[in-house]
Parts: sequence; structure tokens; C-alpha cells
Amino acid sequence: MYYSQDIIDEVCRRNDIVDVVSSHVKLTRRGSNYFGLCPFHSEKSPSFSVSPSKQMYHCFGCGAGGSVITFTMNIENYSFPEAVEALADRAGIELPKQSASSEEKEKDSLRSRLLAVNKEAGKYYYYLLRHERGRNAYGYLTGRGLTDPVINAFGLGYAGFGKENLYGYLKKQGYEDELLGQSGLFNHDEKRGMLDKFWNRVIFPIMDIQNRIIGFGGRVMGEGTPKYLNSPETTVFEKGRNLYGLNLARTARKKSLIICEGYMDVISMHQAGFKETVASLGTALTVAQANLMKRYADEVFVCYDSDAAGIKAALRAIPILRNAGFKCRVINMNPYKDPDEFIKNLGSSEFEKRMEEAENSFYYEVRIDEASFDLKDPDDKTRFFKNIAARLLRFEDAIERDNYLEGIADKYHISPESLGEMVKKQAMKAENINVYERPKSLDHKTEREDGRIKAQKGMLTWLCEEPGIYTKIKEYIKTEDFSEGLLKDLATRIYEQLENGSINPAAIISSYEEEEMQRQVASVFNEEVIDTDIGEDRDKALKELILRLLKDSWLSPGREEDNGDVMLIQERINKKKEYERIKSELKNIRLLN
Ligand code: CTP
Ligand code: MN
Repeated sequence: MYYSQDIIDEVCRRNDIVDVVSSHVKLTRRGSNYFGLCPFHSEKSPSFSVSPSKQMYHCFGCGAGGSVITFTMNIENYSFPEAVEALADRAGIELPKQSASSEEKEKDSLRSRLLAVNKEAGKYYYYLLRHERGRNAYGYLTGRGLTDPVINAFGLGYAGFGKENLYGYLKKQGYEDELLGQSGLFNHDEKRGMLDKFWNRVIFPIMDIQNRIIGFGGRVMGEGTPKYLNSPETTVFEKGRNLYGLNLARTARKKSLIICEGYMDVISMHQAGFKETVASLGTALTVAQANLMKRYADEVFVCYDSDAAGIKAALRAIPILRNAGFKCRVINMNPYKDPDEFIKNLGSSEFEKRMEEAENSFYYEVRIDEASFDLKDPDDKTRFFKNIAARLLRFEDAIERDNYLEGIADKYHISPESLGEMVKKQAMKAENINVYERPKSLDHKTEREDGRIKAQKGMLTWLCEEPGIYTKIKEYIKTEDFSEGLLKDLATRIYEQLENGSINPAAIISSYEEEEMQRQVASVFNEEVIDTDIGEDRDKALKELILRLLKDSWLSPGREEDNGDVMLIQERINKKKEYERIKSELKNIRLLN
């Protein structure tokens, strides 16, 4: 569903951000803004600010930020249109029904046509499992301990064999070979044409978070190879971007998620009451999957198989999860191989205990590492601790690093001071490597670039906070003076709004659908360039900012190389003159009253 910018603006206008945020965060007024504890990361002192005049929020701690729509998307796990709908509802705004033309457009897209094929295929398999023809398959599933509610909740099915098949069923419905060929559900054979990919297997439909079937897994009943067959990647099925069971886990509304390896694990876990369980679809966990999970929880329990492959998979997944911002713990399932077996043998209350006892992922990594050293051998022992020191170094947060350092020192009976020394040494080593790898000149260049961007953001922030300066600013700084891309785009919009007499940062933020863009835009409006209380010096600060922007735009090296081109040289000279003229002009006037 697409909503016009007018409607989005209306929805924002009628939902005051302070009101909306207040129902989730306790806010206290400080100056013209409100502050509270950020709901998007854990913190003890408030760095989450809400601006009633700009109708936006920004967290100085974690960088979260945006409009009332962004806030609703994040706090409720909504997509952009879902958030617009919820807020419209809150304010009693009636949204227009989807127009026929856009409905047509959606129907036409390959994506939605493939989703429709999957949906039909899902129905077909579902029906067959419950039909006489699926009796064996149904017996197989119940024989593995699954009950009807969970078989239905996961939409399990059966792909039969014989003359009647999925291909025939879908052809009868009028689907064309061209489309079916792209669905990944058929193999093409020169002689025999299109053949069902899945036959005589129990079927696990794979759904995205909106419960749309995007692919299938099929298991042989009993022994046989391959044990599982899966849909190939298609336009609608990107394995690394989805997690099996997340559609159900997200509505469990638990603070944590449990990640395991397989279809059967997820289903048994749900049946045992652990509805927060997902699986990474038999592939290594990806960053995209971790980020997707992060929308729903802050903690992950890793519950991979207890064999060597499972341990390896866990060691790969842990840093990805931690980098995504998760608190991460590892469940020990000994002596069982996987959660499915564990639950069958020991039941859910024992599993609950294992969750309570789950090991912090850092200690887990260290413990696995330990196995490859002989701690009775002094050399080996030193190498082991050097390894730990290197691991500790990866924590960016000093307090977190210190806490782990103390924990490890305690665990392995060495003094925190000597472990601390080792970390310092490792840090120095790492520093040397960095200097070697990154030539100084590059550093200067990125520093200059950072400063340039900061100055531009600062100007935009200032314009939003004090629109009165616009008439003065526009004489000196044009939208062309901003960097290509987001900054120029924003400057253009802000100038446009200011030309029309009023500035509305929230509307600008909301015009970007992508959450990442909204976050970036919000950060632009929150650049701290000056302390607004510095009184007399503010005028000077603004002038310096203008000159900085002009210098970057006109005179910074490496823009156009003049290569001896007379015109370009002349232009540079003119710009330099103009710059000097403005500089002395600014000396003699006041910009701020
Ligand atoms: N897998 C796969 N293809 C295979 C084997 C495994 O795609 N040939 C994927 C499946 O998603 C499977 C997961 O890897 O669920 C874990 O594999 P495994 O532990 O072998 O299967 P289980 O889920 O434990 O299934 P079962 O209990 O039926 O053996
Ligand atoms: Mn398994």
C-alpha cells in the first residue's frame, strides 16, 4: 500500500510525537526538549531526546532517530505502511482505500505472482497431508510426536506421487509454464516436460514475517537421501534474509529468541511452549538474519546441534549476533544432539533450566578455545591467555571489556592486572598493524571529509532550529554547496520548505520509507555544531560555519583538477576572490540579532 505524502504529513501532524513517545518512555522536560531512557538500547542515564518543535526524536547514545512514524515502526515492529495505518487509527484519520490501479500494478509484479503460486502450492500440499493419500505422511509426523495444532500452525503438508501432481493442479488453475518455471517448484526435463520437484515428502512451507509462503523444504519419510530438499533461491526466496519460524516467534513477544538448526527443532520447540524459536534454514547465519531478529529481541539463545558441525556453526554465529547488538548465550544440550531430541527425552521444564544455565557466549568461545591448549604447559598457557587478550580487545566498550576481563581472570585464577597488561600489549600490536595498513594521508583525507560533512549537517541543523537565519544564509550558501547525495537532497528540501515559510523536519524524515534513511536523516538534523548558549560568540560561530562550507565547496583541493585549463584556472581565481570578499563582508556585519 502506498500513501501520498499529503496523507503521511496529515498523520504526522495529528500524532504529536511527545504524546506517542510518552506512552512508551517516561519523558522529562529539559529546556525546549524532552529527555528519557532510550527504549532502543539499554542505558542508565537518559540520552534519548524528543523535540516537540521538530517533531522528531534522536538518541545520542545509539543513534536511533526519526519521526513519529519511525518511532512507531521500531517500537511496534511495524513496516512503514503498518505504522502509518496504526497512527492514522490512533488519530481517527480515515485512510483512502487502495486504488484499483495500484492493486493492478501489484498483481502484475513477478513477486506477487510467485507468491500466489507458492500460496496455491502450499494449499495443495496442506490438503494432501489431510487426505487419504497423505495418510503415511501424517503418520510419519504424528509418529515423531507432533500434534495437530502445531502441524496446522506450521502449515505442514505432503507432496504425493503418481499421476496427480502439483503441476497438473496448478495448470488447471491457469498458471503458465513460464511462471511455474521460475517458482523453483519444478524440474524441467527435455522429454517429459515439467516435473514436480517434491514428491513423496513431508512439506515444510517457509514463510516470511508476513506469513507469506516464500519457499518449501521437503523431508523424506524415514531414511533416504537427500534428507531434505529445499526450494532454490527465487525472486521471493532469499535464504539469507529469512528465518524459519520467525513469523510465529515475532508474535510470541518474548524478550529473547532461541536460534537452532532445523525445521523439526523449531516445530518441537514451539510445541513445547518455546514459541520464540527460529532456525537459520540450514545455512550459516547471516548479518541480514541477525538484523532481522534484532527487530524483535535483544537477547538470543544459541541452540545449535551439539556435534562438531553445530559447535562450528555456533562459533560463527556468535560474533554476528553480538555485532548486531544482541546479548548472546549458548544452551548446552548434552547428552542430546538437538533440541528436538532433548525435548522428547527430558521435556520443557528441563529445557527451561538449561536456558537459565545457558553460558555467556564470550565464556563459551573461550571455553571452546581452551580445548586446543594444554594449560599444564606454560607456553601453551601463555598462548591461551594471549588469545583471550585478543578477544577482549574486540569489545569496543571499555566497561564491558573490563567486566569480562575480571570475569575471565577470576575463572582462570590469574590476576586481572597481568591480563590487563596483556590486553594493552595486544592493543599496541594492533595499533602498529593499523598504522602500517592505513597510510597517514588517507587518514587525513577521511578526517577532512568527516569535518566537511559535519559542517554541512551542522548548517542544516541550525537552519531547522533557527529558521530565521535562512534569509541571511541563502545569500552565501546555495544548495549546490552541499555534497552530492543525501546532504544535497536534504538541503534542497529544507531550502524549499524555508522558501515557503515554514520548516518541518518530521515531514522530510517521513518522506523516506527506508528506516536506515530515516535514521540518517534524523542524525543530520541533530548535529551538534555549537552550544546554543554561547551568546555573543554564536554570531561568530555561524560566520565561521559559512566560511567553512564555502571553502570546502569552492577551494578544497582535489575537486576539479585544473590541468592547465585556462577557464578553470580563471574560475578558481574568481572563486578565491569572491571568498575573500565574503570573508571581509562578514567581518563587518551581524547575522544574528
Ligand atoms: N538441511 C538441509 N538439507 C539437508 C540436511 C539438512 O537443508 N540435506 C537443513 C534443514 O533445514 C534441516 C537443518 O538443515 O532442518 C538441520 O539438519 P538436520 O539436523 O540434519 O535435520 P533436523 O532438522 O534435525 O531434522 P530431523 O530431525 O528430521 O533429522
Ligand atoms: Mn537436527
